[in-house]
Amino acid sequence: MTPLQSVDAVFKGKFNNEPFLIVAPGRINLMGEHTDYNNGFVMPAAVDKHIAFAAAPNGTDQFNVYSLDFNESFSFHLSQLKPGNHWSNYMMGVAGGFKQQGLPLAGIDCVFGGNIPTGAGLSSSAALCCGIGFVFNELFHFNLTRLQLAKIAQRAEHEFAGVRCGIMDQYASLFGLANAALMLDCRSLQHEYLPIRFQEVEILLIDTNVKHELASSAYNQRRAACEEGVSMIQKNKPTVQSLRDADLNDLEMIQPLVSPDVFSKCQFIIQEIARTQQAAQLLKAHDLAGFGKKMFETHWGLSKKYEVSCSESDFLVKLAENFGSEVVGARQMGGGFGGCTINLVNKAAVQKYTSKVKAEYVASFKKEPDFYSVMLMQGVHAESITP
Ligand code: GLA
Repeated sequence: MTPLQSVDAVFKGKFNNEPFLIVAPGRINLMGEHTDYNNGFVMPAAVDKHIAFAAAPNGTDQFNVYSLDFNESFSFHLSQLKPGNHWSNYMMGVAGGFKQQGLPLAGIDCVFGGNIPTGAGLSSSAALCCGIGFVFNELFHFNLTRLQLAKIAQRAEHEFAGVRCGIMDQYASLFGLANAALMLDCRSLQHEYLPIRFQEVEILLIDTNVKHELASSAYNQRRAACEEGVSMIQKNKPTVQSLRDADLNDLEMIQPLVSPDVFSKCQFIIQEIARTQQAAQLLKAHDLAGFGKKMFETHWGLSKKYEVSCSESDFLVKLAENFGSEVVGARQMGGGFGGCTINLVNKAAVQKYTSKVKAEYVASFKKEPDFYSVMLMQGVHAESITP
């Protein structure tokens, strides 16, 4: 059974009603890490790992939600919205966003479940927030745009989950296409679709199965380091509003005034924003080998300068580099401190590569990695069950 079929069946059994059905994808990111909250460029895509929702208004002011994967029910009222790290807090955060906009949100019954591994850097939380936001918007005909939904979902993460994330994950989940990545300018919030026609190459995610407990506080610290750099640069150059507006010369000017830590974080971001623009050109020119080199460069920048990698991710990327040209590129993906690496691998070599990675990873870390081959998918959308 697909997640959609499961939530449909469970909803009918629990609530004895006909549900509205939608699917909300997780995302990968081809290039541009930690650049979104610096107003730079990112290159994410929505993928076929997703969360399905079955929902209907219930004529009350109560929200009754059942998580299939956690086998857990939760009910809340709009007057009881609370921050926290439980899945229900993310949903309350989104409900709070609708309330804040003065929209007459009312109670629903909902069942959700999916196949996005959590803590793996595939943005299951963005899929959850974008999915429930889309459900509210459709069920009550609020006519919010996808961009408005992305912003509500992002604010839910900030205010209810305490992560000061950028907008990449929500944007990708809502605007993805089945055959393209997004080249998103996080300053203008305009995007361009980059067609992805990897005929011979598979997008293979390797899950380190490292889930960093302090990832959200470390993430917020990285963001603060970038902000400190910007505020110092602004003293010389008031037009600089974010690291997107700065170059390496601007950064050198403040080197004596900031800690080596702030310097190297800002340096990585300025380089990564430029790298993402170069990578988009390479992709347009069908230069996958050139694109793959950029991926490796990003990884070592994330590891050595931005310091959001871990020994498991470094190990996997080193293996990828040493494997030969059949692995086009690899790097840690997403917020960091574990989760997945993204690997572009020639289809003919996938089996050989996964066996080698598995054997060496188990020998070094005494735990197994997981492998997910992903396909691109359309952003959040309504679906029906085809018999
Ligand atoms: C997390 C955040 C995103 C982005 C990435 C790093 O996924 O939610 O906004 O900053 O990390 O690129």
